[in-house]
Amino acid sequence: MAAASEPFRLLVLPGDGIGPEVIEQTLRVVSALSGGMGRPVHLSEALVGGAAIDAHGVPVTDETVARALKSDAVLFGAVGGAKWDDQPIALRPESGLLRLRKELDLFANLRPAICYPELADASSLKRELVEGLDLLVIRELTAGVYFGEPRGVEDLGNGVTRAYDTQAYTSVEVERVVRAAFEIARGRNRRVCSVDKANVMQTGGFWRGIATRVGADYPDVELTHMYADNCAMQIMRRPKQFDVIVTDNLFGDILSDAAAMLTGSLGLLPSASLGASDAQGRRKALYEPVHGSAPDIAGKGLANPLATILSFAMCLRWSMDAPAAADRLEAAVRSALAAGVRTADIAGPGETAVSTAEMTDAVLAALG
Ligand code: IPM
Ligand code: MG
Repeated sequence: MAAASEPFRLLVLPGDGIGPEVIEQTLRVVSALSGGMGRPVHLSEALVGGAAIDAHGVPVTDETVARALKSDAVLFGAVGGAKWDDQPIALRPESGLLRLRKELDLFANLRPAICYPELADASSLKRELVEGLDLLVIRELTAGVYFGEPRGVEDLGNGVTRAYDTQAYTSVEVERVVRAAFEIARGRNRRVCSVDKANVMQTGGFWRGIATRVGADYPDVELTHMYADNCAMQIMRRPKQFDVIVTDNLFGDILSDAAAMLTGSLGLLPSASLGASDAQGRRKALYEPVHGSAPDIAGKGLANPLATILSFAMCLRWSMDAPAAADRLEAAVRSALAAGVRTADIAGPGETAVSTAEMTDAVLAALG
């Protein structure tokens, strides 16, 4: 760990849509917490996504990637919007995020889905199925079909074209994320469910074999396996059966959105994308809300800032070694919710919705 006085370098990438609004509010929380974090936070900011395309012609510049590599962590808002939808994939806002994940080698993406009792009625499932849910999806983030080569579209002649992507994993890529899942499960309920399509895909059986081998190193953690389609169903059917789910990049993308809805709103869900720890215990990390840029509500002050605020709580926990401050911040979010403060996405019938800034005010008030 770094010396207590050394500043923590946080690179802030607000992005597009509601990204800048939720980041702005989260930075109010960052400054309110300063002092309780053990180290001063040094902030710097850059463009990413559509905003970077407009300014620089690319969704993330080499310079921003270099700054991210030198930072202690990245706090990311959201990217994307209709304006850039017609760009080729490499020049779409999302590619900026994918490049950061890849170049920082952030292979373990932690997506907790926690259902606060106050919000259980906002879930699409019945209260008894979700109340008290505490599920963690760990998604592999730097390999699989998102990055596999070859990929492309080819002309087969006679007016027929063909598009293809490649799902590929090395044993190292599977092992490191599965190992991360077991390590993290040790701090939770000691159950890992590894999710694949071993019944159909080469990469599936391969994944399962490695998970089984790694699992032997963790006899104190229960390992189960599940096919991805069944997992999607089980998440809807009986979500509380899960503790930690570990899965590949694409299944993790889909299953984490499904798990998110159990909690009532995507607007509440934080994520951490972590690299490997070095000898000093430091690791590259990017923190971002699971929700997207929500262009339909951008600029209106309607967005829920809690997913980004909770992402910063994950930063306190995973990058700043400040678990007490993380606990305090999470408790402040819970008490704002318990007091009935609701943004539009989580307001029930008859409940008045507050603005992005007012929700943050409530969190700051609870922080005291
Ligand atoms: C996510 C998003 C991204 C993904 C997009 C924005 C590239 O859906 O983080 O889940 O597919 O990984
Ligand atoms: Mg997604």
